[in-house]
Amino acid sequence: MDPLEELHRGALACRRCALAKTRGRVVFGSGHAGASILLIGEAPGANEDRGGLPFIGQAGKLLDRALAEAALRREDLYIANVLKCRPPGNRNPKRDEIEQCRPWLEGQIEAIDPGVIVPMGNFALKLFAGASITIGKARGKRFGHGGRAVLPIYHPAALLYNRSLLPLFHEDMRSVAALAACTEQGAGGG
Ligand code: URA
Repeated sequence: MDPLEELHRGALACRRCALAKTRGRVVFGSGHAGASILLIGEAPGANEDRGGLPFIGQAGKLLDRALAEAALRREDLYIANVLKCRPPGNRNPKRDEIEQCRPWLEGQIEAIDPGVIVPMGNFALKLFAGASITIGKARGKRFGHGGRAVLPIYHPAALLYNRSLLPLFHEDMRSVAALAACTEQGAGGG
């Protein structure tokens, strides 16, 4: 079995934290197993908890629009979350939940081996940057992490509450596409 599929199977049976008791489905992630771009959200919401796939609700629609506008296709990327299970009532992830769940995401990064990691929102950002940094400051600014490029962007759900962030979100997604194109060219030796 390929490493990502093996990891997926393991995650479906995960009971490392209390969210295993309240979840509907484990939302492992979806997309291309060899994607050059990995988008990382926060945690499944109600729709994802029912459907088993990331970003299939309202925030997902905004994400899809930005992807299309940047000429990126969902099936060419990989989309995962910091937490694989829904926190009840969509509350914020707790520190111990993040720590217990982190090996799944680390396994995904290793298996997919993306050149570009895109943390969407504060919870994903903090996995790669210092605890005091916020997405408002970090968005659109690329940095390196473990030999990969990291380009943080707003979480799509933030756009539901603040429509004025929409142009920035679209601009950042275009930067993600441009960065991935550069990275792929570099990797291909061109
Ligand atoms: N918000 C997230 O962070 N992830 C999802 O999959 C859906 C909404």
